[in-house]
Amino acid sequence: MRRQIVAGNWKMNCDLSETEALINDLKAQTIPETTSVMIAPTYTNLQSAVKMLADQPITVAAQNMHQASNGAYTGEISAGMLKSIGVDHVILGHSERRAYFKETDALLAEKVSTALENKMTVIFCFGEELVDRTHGREFDVVKDQLKKGLFHLSESDWGSIILAYEPVWAIGTGETATPDQAQEMHAFIRKTLSEKYSDAMAQSVSILYGGSVKPGNAAEIFGKEDVDGGLIGGASLDAESFMGIVNAFA
Ligand code: PGA
Repeated sequence: MRRQIVAGNWKMNCDLSETEALINDLKAQTIPETTSVMIAPTYTNLQSAVKMLADQPITVAAQNMHQASNGAYTGEISAGMLKSIGVDHVILGHSERRAYFKETDALLAEKVSTALENKMTVIFCFGEELVDRTHGREFDVVKDQLKKGLFHLSESDWGSIILAYEPVWAIGTGETATPDQAQEMHAFIRKTLSEKYSDAMAQSVSILYGGSVKPGNAAEIFGKEDVDGGLIGGASLDAESFMGIVNAFA
């Protein structure tokens, strides 16, 4: 059975005291045993988050990391540094990293390899832009991103990969893909994995949907056969709305 996952991407929000307050709010909630819950605070607050959640069923993830193990890369953070503070999950390939920091598929392929060499689990984000969808090339774009970013991996490596399909036009816009659009793309992603690897492997990978998921629309999206949960931005910054999403699985 695939894991049901809800991950909160806090992006560049919450200073230390706000992070601690939000984590305390989350600690006051009951996490259902059937769902893996993750949060990704900013780098400076990861260590506090790990300490505060040591006895809780909530995993702490980083939002990014560098592809090199160490060296003269001012301002960057390595996989080893994350591991040394107890962080072994990392989001890679978020559309904001791709757009604002010019992260390419080739760079992301390197980052994924480095993460796996360091025995980390990767939440790999990808998805088409609005112009791709209006031109009817969303499937080609998604397949290309998967191919270039992840198809160098062996089948067994995929045990450490969680996919997050995030159509760029739905991120932070309030516009969500319809549950049917999400299902259609998730089924296509699984078919693409099955053609490259095997059906068993394709069936075992968790594929999250991301883009304006809220407590009010999560149940319908998560109810789709090939949707295994969500990567949540804005709605993860409030414990009540995040938990409304965590509890949205039927
Ligand atoms: P959103 O962000 O939920 O605010 O649309 C999703 C994401 O960027 O992962």
